[in-house]
Amino acid sequence: MHHFAYIDQNLHCESVDLAAVASLYGTPTYVYSAATIESNYRRLLAGFPGLDVQICYAMKANSNLAILRHLHNLGAGYDLVSGGEIRRVVAAGGDLQRSVFAGVGKSEDEIRLALENGVFAFHVESEPELVRINHVAGTLGRVAPVAIRINPDVDARTHAKITTGKSGNKFGISLAQASLVHEAVAKLKHVALKGVQMHIGSQLTATGPFVEAVQKVLPFVSELKRSHDIGYFSIGGGMGIVYQDALASGRAEWWERRDQAQRPITPESYGAALTPLLEPLGLKILLEHGRFMVGNAGILLTQVEYLKRASGKNFLVVDAGMNDLIRPAMYEGYHEIVPLHRDTSRRAMVADVVGPICESSDCFAHDYQLQEVGEGETLALMSAGAYGYSMASRYNSRLLPAEVLVKGSSFELISARETFEQLIANERIPAFL
Ligand code: LLP
Repeated sequence: MHHFAYIDQNLHCESVDLAAVASLYGTPTYVYSAATIESNYRRLLAGFPGLDVQICYAMKANSNLAILRHLHNLGAGYDLVSGGEIRRVVAAGGDLQRSVFAGVGKSEDEIRLALENGVFAFHVESEPELVRINHVAGTLGRVAPVAIRINPDVDARTHAKITTGKSGNKFGISLAQASLVHEAVAKLKHVALKGVQMHIGSQLTATGPFVEAVQKVLPFVSELKRSHDIGYFSIGGGMGIVYQDALASGRAEWWERRDQAQRPITPESYGAALTPLLEPLGLKILLEHGRFMVGNAGILLTQVEYLKRASGKNFLVVDAGMNDLIRPAMYEGYHEIVPLHRDTSRRAMVADVVGPICESSDCFAHDYQLQEVGEGETLALMSAGAYGYSMASRYNSRLLPAEVLVKGSSFELISARETFEQLIANERIPAFL
């Protein structure tokens, strides 16, 4: 469910007419719904009744300070992966004490920063990393809280580029090696074992792989609970969202029309499948979802520059490019495209919806059917709230887009469009030229 819908043929986010946002701030612009984020957060939490659950929002999905603050106000900590993300949490007034630090390449500086800010735990991905954390903690006279990230070798049945829990992936430690690592923890003076973590991949559309992975890791977790009195088990993130029927999936009727077996994964089905496995542990459970929290809460507004009619093909050239939203080019990601103004009297057209970047991969959709639209009209790329702006670049010297947050009938800019001066601010022409 989300809060994007047509009211009188005009696409709205909550009570805000998106045409007003486009005319005030221009395009391309990301727009997020605060109400959708809040409802996603609450539904996920409600999926695990009776369990002690902490949501550590995977902020790589969308790390705008306003989004971080909104989730902090709801009670979230964060799953973070870099010094930059740690500093963002501090800048947003978020809570490092409820946050976990993941990633295979933590530098000494990042480890120090995390320790100084009192991070809840480090999710350790290798033995050398453990040794480094121990060393840095020692120099600060601290004991670093750590959890072992297990790679359960489970097929997440998602896109290869976002699968993380197979044995060939760089992430985590195999169950076979994990006992050695936890023995290593016991020998090191400046680390203390607090938990176990796993994360098998992103955009999972079924509960099966989650269940399989949890079942595989459970015996190890139970053993560590007995021997080390660990306090938590993080089952990672990865819950998928609806991309194909994105606009319709905002309405309750869309879900009701599907029988239970056909429904895409929901926080309710996810929670129902996992709660019986996790409850007997009696541990705190961490959830690290990113995409689920913000994916369907955001769209990308873009304006049509040209309708180019080529031999046997139409190209709808829009002003957003792969630099603004790279998911289609990088993961064959699908984003539904809808006009801001719906006009049922118009004929349908079929076109490739492409950006202005000089690469053929700069294409949001091939042979896409939508109502006939032309120059100057605005479109929305749906479900773009996760891994949209956070993966944007300046390729082709394009300026980073604007971001707007909507709440009820209010909306505000939460990141201004980049300026050309900012784009070149760090560049210098050396004197020897
Ligand atoms: N925890 C860990 C350790 C992760 O590596 C990730 C995501 C998450 C949690 C959150 O996963 P989520 O709930 O968002 O699926 N850029 C790609 C997705 C990359 C995900 C990377 N890791 C995309 O646009 O599809």
